[in-house]
Amino acid sequence: MIFDTHAHYNDKQFDGDREEIFAAFKETGIGRVCNIASDIESIEECLDLAERYPFMYCALGIHPSDCGPMTEEVLETIRRGLSHPRAVAVGEIGLDYYWDDVDREVQKYWFRRQLDLAREENKPVVIHSREAAADTMNILKEKNAGDMGGVIHCYSYSLEQAREYVKMGFFIGIGGVVTFKNSRKLKEVAREIPLENIVLETDCPYLAPVPYRGKRNSSLYLPLAAQAIAEIRGTEVSEVIAVTEKNAERLYRLA
Ligand code: NI
Repeated sequence: MIFDTHAHYNDKQFDGDREEIFAAFKETGIGRVCNIASDIESIEECLDLAERYPFMYCALGIHPSDCGPMTEEVLETIRRGLSHPRAVAVGEIGLDYYWDDVDREVQKYWFRRQLDLAREENKPVVIHSREAAADTMNILKEKNAGDMGGVIHCYSYSLEQAREYVKMGFFIGIGGVVTFKNSRKLKEVAREIPLENIVLETDCPYLAPVPYRGKRNSSLYLPLAAQAIAEIRGTEVSEVIAVTEKNAERLYRLA
């Protein structure tokens, strides 16, 4: 069954039909989902969803674009949340120089603090990095983050960097973007790195695959990304699904 390693079902875009989507998981081959926090309000919502649904886990952390109002108190709220048995990672955390709506030094500060938190609480990390390739790599190396383990979510950098992340011990998160016509670089990554280092993700409600590009995404569309990866690699979709599910179990330490 497909493991969606990165979703945002707490998003209000799902308020009308969240239950219907979940009810269709089994027949669509969706087994488990990790719901990822991004801002302060979402911490409680993610814990609540993970507690209510047996197929749901959560990661707790503050997204770089939302870390403007971050405080030590919020960090302690995350720490308490991580003691929940279904809270499996710290994330999503990182750097976003594309939106660039939080001062870069502030982003770096809370990125480092949350990496420290992950180490203290012995959790893997879910990394968000956009147009910040060098700084992200440098901070992850400085913190020896590879030995905590984690995923570079919605991977958007070069094959060379992907190989370096794999060598450090990270998984590479791939989703709907791999179906886009103009995603030449990501297709190359999906073909060249070992399948053992790829995890599937939606980032829903964002980044729906073709032919739903631009629409609201959900895990129900994830088979399309799995199919695209299988075609790129010249293998069976069943193999992609089975191996990436095992990878997700290793990533979130469920096995
Ligand atoms: Ni996300």
